Amino acid sequence: MAKAAKILLTGASGQVGAELLPLLRELGEVVAPDRAALNLEDTQSVRAAVRDVAPLWIVNPAAYTAVDLAESEPDRAYAVNRDAVRVLGEEAARLGAGVLHFSTDYVFDGTAGHAYREQDATAPANVYGASKLAGEQALAASGAAHIILRTSWVYGATGKNFLRTILRLARQREVLRVVADQTGAPTWSRDLARLTAHVLRQVTPLTLGSRGGVYHAAGRGETTWCGFAAEGVRLLQEREPEARLARIEPITTAEYPTPARRPANSRLDGTRLAREFGWQMMDWHDSLRIVMGELAEQGAGEG
Ligand SMILES: NC(=O)c1ccc[n+]([C@@H]2O[C@H](COP(=O)([O-])OP(=O)(O)OC[C@H]3O[C@@H](n4cnc5c(N)ncnc54)[C@H](OP(=O)(O)O)[C@@H]3O)[C@@H](O)[C@H]2O)c1
Repeated sequence: MAKAAKILLTGASGQVGAELLPLLRELGEVVAPDRAALNLEDTQSVRAAVRDVAPLWIVNPAAYTAVDLAESEPDRAYAVNRDAVRVLGEEAARLGAGVLHFSTDYVFDGTAGHAYREQDATAPANVYGASKLAGEQALAASGAAHIILRTSWVYGATGKNFLRTILRLARQREVLRVVADQTGAPTWSRDLARLTAHVLRQVTPLTLGSRGGVYHAAGRGETTWCGFAAEGVRLLQEREPEARLARIEPITTAEYPTPARRPANSRLDGTRLAREFGWQMMDWHDSLRIVMGELAEQGAGEG
């Protein structure tokens, strides 16, 4: 990608967007409007922003990500996850720009007995997943050159995520009961950002061709939410032998009812990503160690 390329980045305040911002700046000029400047619930605002910036790439990690709330706010979820993505695609097609978009394991119902491949049949089990799938389809139909990275269980040292919630609660409670019958892989937000920069270094909207489309990009290995929580708390205990931390107990999904149904199998097969872009996502154990180190540094900074 030419160094002077302009990139429109949405959602720079989110987990993935915040990691993307410094890495994309190494590739070109990045325009990263916040929600006040670019409200994805307002298609006119989306259209105007793209026309104003006239980017070579639109990188879109922004999304309506409140999975349970989406069940009672479907209009808002569809506005951000489908309609805004459709307009980004339409405007990109007009400009000859490309769109690098993020999607989710929740486009699947989780009943397959294998790690999902890109061509496997989709069947979202909740509103969030359905709205994200509709966004994928709208982008594909827009005619814009595009890449869709489907990921799962995103976490990092900043932002709102499962790991940070567990580590906080582990200091406050005796016992934490965590779902142990949903299998997937935690994905480090920075790994996704590095992958994005790697991809944008290799292709332009013009040269993308058959390398476009959907890719599965989740952390390597697999675990359950309970396994993830237990490993995070174990590593925290290793760093802080004196700390009193909660015991982690496995429960079933049925014992932890939520408004949105979640897939039992969230595993994503990264073969296409390795083949087309020579990229392997980090094993979740390795990225977790790094994130725990960053969290400890943050803690030391606060103290
Ligand atoms: N988190 C996960 O576990 C997970 C799993 C699978 C896939 N994904 C996908 O990965 C991508 C990145 O997720 P993430 O975890 O980084 O998300 P996140 O931390 O929840 O961040 C979402 C971002 O979208 C922005 N946003 C939401 N509604 C908006 C609106 N109406 N107008 C403008 N901006 C808006 C938010 O801005 P504000 O700060 O103003 O709210 C925020 O910057 C998303 O496409 C998500 O669907 C995430």
